[in-house]
Amino acid sequence: MRVPFVDLTVVIDQIKDAYLEAVTRLLDKKHFILTEEVEAFERAWAQKCEARYCVGVSCGADALYLALLATGIKPGDEVITQGNAYNATVTAILQTGAVPRFADIDEDTLTLDVSKAEALVNEKTKAILPVHLFGQANDMAGISDLAKRHELAIVGDCAQAHLAEFDGKPVGALGNVGAFSFYPTKNLGAFGDAGAVTTDSEKIYREILARRNLGQVAKNDHQYFGFNMRLDPVQAIALNLKLQYLEENTMARKDAGAYYDKLIDQADLPLRPVQKVKGANHVYHLYVAQSLQMDRDDLIKSLLELGVETAVHYPVPVYKQPFYDGPKDPCPVMDEVSGRIISLPLFVGITREQQEYVIESLNKTLN
Ligand SMILES: Cc1ncc(COP(=O)(O)O)c(C=O)c1O
Repeated sequence: MRVPFVDLTVVIDQIKDAYLEAVTRLLDKKHFILTEEVEAFERAWAQKCEARYCVGVSCGADALYLALLATGIKPGDEVITQGNAYNATVTAILQTGAVPRFADIDEDTLTLDVSKAEALVNEKTKAILPVHLFGQANDMAGISDLAKRHELAIVGDCAQAHLAEFDGKPVGALGNVGAFSFYPTKNLGAFGDAGAVTTDSEKIYREILARRNLGQVAKNDHQYFGFNMRLDPVQAIALNLKLQYLEENTMARKDAGAYYDKLIDQADLPLRPVQKVKGANHVYHLYVAQSLQMDRDDLIKSLLELGVETAVHYPVPVYKQPFYDGPKDPCPVMDEVSGRIISLPLFVGITREQQEYVIESLNKTLN
């Protein structure tokens, strides 16, 4: 048997015909920039996230950058993020001229350790940027409390957390602003690059709305320094159609995640799945576990020989990437964990047999 890491067949087939028809209608209308399809998606996504506003943008990396700018982050400010932030998270901070500071992570949940973040706060700290990795929200009670006490903005990296919640509230409605990616393999994925920001603040909304469109507040009235970071209508069409399946597809992911939990537990494997954050639900963008005995890279190779594709999110912390020359706050847990984590195949349409084969292959290799 062969189990791919990701297979998009089901989620493409769900909308393929309707998508092609809608794109044909777009060609007939001959209007291609910031169309009604984009506005319809923005309304729908704001509603899904229980946020007052949404602005569709070009990709998740740009969503993060615009979110930071609109919360007032300036050169020289410090923004605390987590040791296992993604490259785009850190790049967005650097683009504003601010300085990223890295808080270590919790060894069990792999989410930001709030006490470590607190230790980094100083007079230059202006924001905290939790990354809701793998589909699970961070401890937003702890982060909100920290932000409140030190008057920090909260910008959430929600790129892997569509429909994830903390205390029953969707991540896009937590903090000052949420930044989403709709990269094709995400839980809500476009057919190319796309992203969005969600917020309850009218001020942040208006600023991002203008900045993503070269700073224009009306035709030829450029009130802000802006960029071309608009959401493309062809992507908005895909997103509007896919949105109809998001709940059903999220249920399928959760079901597959719970099945791995059960199989790993029954097989008594030396593998420790990411633990649940109290108060958070997990939408299983990725199923991540730590290899407790076997070398992770050897494990990946052996699984591949058995036909099982896996991945690592992420093998090298951003502060150790060659391009990065900012402060390298010590993150010993992250350093250790980045060598142990492995992401197992999980996608909408993965079968029970495929999941059982993954566990059988793990069993063969590990025991
Ligand atoms: C956690 C995280 N942040 C940011 C991004 C950047 O999103 P994009 O690729 O749409 O720019 C991604 C996805 O690639 C991501 O997974």
